[in-house]
Amino acid sequence: MLGIVVEEIDGAFNAVLREIPIPVCKPGELLVKVHAASVNRSDLLQKKGLYPSSSSPILGLDLSGVIVDADSCSKKYRPGDRVMALVDGGAQAEFAAVHEDLAMPIPNGLSFEEAAAVPEVFLTAFQALKWLGQINKGHSVLVHSGASGVGTAAIQLAKSLEATVFATAGTEEKVHACLTLGAKNALNYRSSSEFSSSLLEWTSGQGVDIILDTVGAAFWKENIQALRQEGKLISVAYLGGARIPDFDLSLLQKKWGNLIGTRLRDRSLAYKIALTKEFAAFALPLFINHSLRPIVHSILPLESVEYAHNLLQTNQTIGKVVLKVY
Ligand SMILES: NC(=O)c1ccc[n+]([C@@H]2O[C@H](COP(=O)([O-])OP(=O)(O)OC[C@H]3O[C@@H](n4cnc5c(N)ncnc54)[C@H](OP(=O)(O)O)[C@@H]3O)[C@@H](O)[C@H]2O)c1
Repeated sequence: MLGIVVEEIDGAFNAVLREIPIPVCKPGELLVKVHAASVNRSDLLQKKGLYPSSSSPILGLDLSGVIVDADSCSKKYRPGDRVMALVDGGAQAEFAAVHEDLAMPIPNGLSFEEAAAVPEVFLTAFQALKWLGQINKGHSVLVHSGASGVGTAAIQLAKSLEATVFATAGTEEKVHACLTLGAKNALNYRSSSEFSSSLLEWTSGQGVDIILDTVGAAFWKENIQALRQEGKLISVAYLGGARIPDFDLSLLQKKWGNLIGTRLRDRSLAYKIALTKEFAAFALPLFINHSLRPIVHSILPLESVEYAHNLLQTNQTIGKVVLKVY
């Protein structure tokens, strides 16, 4: 079969399409004919050897497709079923082995390309908001990088969970996308240096209950200022730096704040299965009634993977880039 692997060519790491063996399923795994696989920001790190997958040299963390072999599994799924799933590498290929309890039926009405845009970013956002943030009706949530893959999922999920959502993004077009997805207010952080003052104004001086942070160091002080007393700052990425200069813990202490970090990929299989189960029960009906929708920026052929990486690297995307596999 064909799949995307990383090769070093003239000192540079490239994602390339190569002939590779079809995966052999372990007990409990489904063999899926992949129709689409999404591109995730971590693929860019993995390509540089900075974020390796322990399970597969093939890129790709989530996919959609049709089951071709379910012999090693219980009777939950059958060949021919349409599924989408999180995998620990190996999605960007013609076939992938998928743990049956990480597979979710593709909601009626979603194409394979839309379905492939769901697992990684929606599960990450759901985990952050629901499990770690303990989001509730009436809470206020600030989503940074609101037009990103994770951001577009988080805005919609927070809205579905009856929270009031605010967002930041790096262009006017992205700000508009955040508002269209359900954010009550959103701002372009590149043109307003202090987002915390807007957040305090929008929350009558209270600050927000939850911040879903993708930026890290560059937003640290502003984040703490925008946080409500006893609020939760949930760190899923540090695109604006991991090391905070003049780090002052007293800011967090004064807010009785909770600083929570997570990395979904490192979580145990049991954790991912439980998360998938709870997410599916909550979200699949909402995809069917169109309350939630995967945001797909572009659909590209598998061989355009390097072009796809460049779209992400240069921050051009709103939502997900999806690779079409067949
Ligand atoms: N911890 C986890 O479990 C987990 C799971 C999934 C993803 N992630 C991480 O979460 C982040 C977002 O993922 P994604 O798939 O949503 O990414 P994405 O769709 O590629 O979007 C990332 C966005 O972040 C913003 N950005 C990039 N560099 C920045 C910088 N230096 N300062 C501030 N903003 C910057 C840009 O939007 P603007 O133009 O709006 O600034 C960019 O479009 C990635 O770093 C990803 O690896 C973590």
